[in-house]
Amino acid sequence: MNNASLPGAGAALPAPVLRPRRIRRTSAIRDLVQETRVTAADLIAPLFVKEGTDAPEPVGSMPGVFRLNLDDLVAECRALAALGIRGIALFPVTPPALKNPLGTEALNPGCLVLRAVRAVKAAVPELVLFTDIALDPYTSHGHDGVLTPDGTDVDNDATVEILARMSVLHAEAGTDFVAPSDMMDGRVAALRAALDAAGYPQTGILAYSAKFASAYYGPFREAVGSAAAAGTKLLDKRTYQLNPANRREAIADALLDESEGADLLMVKPAGPYLDILRELRDASSLPIAAYQVSGEYAQIHAAAEKGWLDLRKTRDESLLAIRRAGADLILTYFAKALATDLAATHGRAV
Ligand code: PBG
Repeated sequence: MNNASLPGAGAALPAPVLRPRRIRRTSAIRDLVQETRVTAADLIAPLFVKEGTDAPEPVGSMPGVFRLNLDDLVAECRALAALGIRGIALFPVTPPALKNPLGTEALNPGCLVLRAVRAVKAAVPELVLFTDIALDPYTSHGHDGVLTPDGTDVDNDATVEILARMSVLHAEAGTDFVAPSDMMDGRVAALRAALDAAGYPQTGILAYSAKFASAYYGPFREAVGSAAAAGTKLLDKRTYQLNPANRREAIADALLDESEGADLLMVKPAGPYLDILRELRDASSLPIAAYQVSGEYAQIHAAAEKGWLDLRKTRDESLLAIRRAGADLILTYFAKALATDLAATHGRAV
């Protein structure tokens, strides 16, 4: 038998048409082949805590975000845990009267953030707590550390020493992870050593490893009042935060944090730095966190308010892109809204 006797033979077969659309044909097929998902369990909610008993105070440039008093903070944490959110990152709003050039309030064992850690841990012990280690909520100049004697730069080693003591206070209060966001050299090793020496070997370190000197932090600085302290939203932190132009330098600096003992590495901001996320994902086997920062959140809300973007779809796509680029966990101000929407669809993922 030769080919000529097969039915339909004779004419030359056309080249097969490659049809990638077959796997996009129905939503069920699309679900089956989906490579990346976002669930509530991937998200960490950043929360702002303030002194006093006043009602929640909206942050102007961050719709849906509030500064909460301690009681409201605890209630919010209960609500987040019930929605399946596993972690929160706490940021204190320090009253201006408590700020000074040395940021001494950071080492006050009775300071707001430590009271908040104790209260949340007591009420919602299953929630994983991340607390920020940097001096900007406490310094009158708004920098993340103390200044050199001539006031022209942040003093690296003097700052690291304070941050190490601060970390021990946070561990003592019950935080699960200290999160140094200061970008000083050698801070991760110093924090690890201080925590171990003080008897807190189980307290983890989420290192803000590739943190860029970004204009996207503007709304956050308004939220915690560090912009007012500095007299400008765009306080220049370029002697410690990374140059947005530099990829190799970012990866090298992040890998130093790994070698110094960080448990989790972070890239921040997230959306404009997806290449960094991917490259760090490939360069390290540690879990990688991404911080979708205040300006990324504000941008999406602002465009949605104008009717130019669909809020939910843009939100979901922005988070999916961050996961696809390589983030295991995402700090995002959208955490509660997304978890609420997912709960309404029986916990389905984005
Ligand atoms: C401070 C800190 C900042 C953010 C988190 N921790 C701001 C800064 O470095 O000036 C920004 C978070 C955001 O914009 O959402 N160490």
